[in-house]
Amino acid sequence: MRKILVTSALPYANGPIHLGHMVEYIQTDIWARFQRLRGNECLYLCGDDAHGTPIMLSANQQGISPEELTATIKVQHQEDFAAFAVEFDNFHTTHSDENRELVADIYKALSANGDIERRVIAQAYDPVKEMFLPDRFVKGECPCCGATDQYGDNCEVCGATYAPCELKNPISVVSGATPIQKESEHLFFRLDKYGDMLKQWIESEHVQPEVANKLNEWFSLGLKQWDISRDAPYFGFAIPGEKDKYFYVWLDAPVGYIASFKNLASRQKELDFDVYWKAESEVELYHFVGKDIIYFHALFWPAVLTGAGLRKPTKVFAHGFLTVNGQKMSKSRGTFIKARDYLEHLNPEYLRYYFAAKLNSSIDDIDLNFEDFMLRVNSDLVGKVVNIASRCAGFINKKFAGMLSATLDDQDLWQQFVAASDKIADLYETLEYSHAVREIMALADKANQYIDQKKPWVLAKEEGREQEVQDICTMGINLFRILMIYLKPILPQMAKEVELFLNVEPLLWQDLEQPLLNHKIEKFKPLMQRVDPDSVSALVDI
Ligand code: MSP
Ligand code: ZN
Repeated sequence: MRKILVTSALPYANGPIHLGHMVEYIQTDIWARFQRLRGNECLYLCGDDAHGTPIMLSANQQGISPEELTATIKVQHQEDFAAFAVEFDNFHTTHSDENRELVADIYKALSANGDIERRVIAQAYDPVKEMFLPDRFVKGECPCCGATDQYGDNCEVCGATYAPCELKNPISVVSGATPIQKESEHLFFRLDKYGDMLKQWIESEHVQPEVANKLNEWFSLGLKQWDISRDAPYFGFAIPGEKDKYFYVWLDAPVGYIASFKNLASRQKELDFDVYWKAESEVELYHFVGKDIIYFHALFWPAVLTGAGLRKPTKVFAHGFLTVNGQKMSKSRGTFIKARDYLEHLNPEYLRYYFAAKLNSSIDDIDLNFEDFMLRVNSDLVGKVVNIASRCAGFINKKFAGMLSATLDDQDLWQQFVAASDKIADLYETLEYSHAVREIMALADKANQYIDQKKPWVLAKEEGREQEVQDICTMGINLFRILMIYLKPILPQMAKEVELFLNVEPLLWQDLEQPLLNHKIEKFKPLMQRVDPDSVSALVDI
């Protein structure tokens, strides 16, 4: 049995979960469920990312404290994830005592190594609000092309990157005032000291090959020291021994993974901190993240962990971004879909299935196209998979009082279904979900062909052929059962209903070994409805 810990990135606690986020949480949840189904021990940890300037400002704007804001949002996030059957072992927050202590310990260790340096830097400062401004909070005209209303880090029109002080006619997004340049002392993490270690780590299959290439580009530009401090006012943890200085949100955010573990371990005493986190830990650790935050997870994070004497991740799995009907998610185009809004109209398992059918191990973006979405769900799940059960269950229920036969009608076909197990497991393991789904649907086609050829509905009208009808339908139900084992990581809710229908204990991967024979099943209830096009239209214009 493998001991595994997986995480998804910690969503910011100032906005709702949207369908773009759901790509990641569904991808991770499928993987964690797959591992458990295989009999491995797999913890899935997450939590909210509560710190930083945007969260502080949105709380200010709403006239509440950041603690209040993030506490409310955390409840909403947890409700949304639960509704999509994303099942965390723990969902904590970075604004917690566990995290405060861990970050302080890590900072102490880094300081002791000589990994922290001080330097005075000049930054944009809002003289009205009396605060330093992150790049995104300064707007102005692009120094290269003159485009108006551009952020302080890069121009969306010509693509140039620059420092906020280079913008022409800059204004503070917070107050509208003209920012001034102001100096203050900052603390820097000596990322450059970890260059050799990181280079070797990245080349040893801890990230996808395309990610390794991207990171190598950054390497060739040279690793810069990383600014880990922010001046007050800031919502975060005060840096021990400093006045009015706070840890930058991205320093304490990944530490939140460990804090979530610690918080769970305070309730589950068998979880030993050292077993999971000491440098020589043998537990497998996987971080699922979007491609936008690879830099933090594959450079800063392994370096910080190493400096603190802790273990590094086994792998960082990055995924691409979600587009909706071919467009970047955007509020103005109506393609920014909140998880809550989706749930008001459509079954969450449709989306789990659709994402699975599209996801693979690359960092390519994936598109949610609602025509395709309806087609996939209707033809694969309703038309192929559920159809097998509905074609067979009626006869078993009505003619044989729910009893399955004592033998399998087509041992070879059954064996083919079982033999696909290794390949499908391998595809799940390597995050090639779309390929796994294709294999499973090819089997579903085979099961339907079997029933088409045997025509139990014809035999049922002929005298003396009852046994054949029972055997064929028993075979069909058994093929359906294997398909549901394969699909269980993707469709946990439907699998639960299938377990009730089949009158069995929760299905495990190893249940493939034994067919279900001489067994009484329950009455068949429709397991999944076709997608209602009106519900889709109500959610989004297609
Ligand atoms: N708070 C940071 C993560 C800290 S992890 C120590 C953050 N939060 S986020 O809310 O912006 O994003 C959370 C995750 O969702 C990230 O991995 C991000 O890449 C992912 N996604 C956000 N929008 C997305 C899409 N449109 N498509 C796919 N994934 C997206 O980043
Ligand atoms: Zn420009």
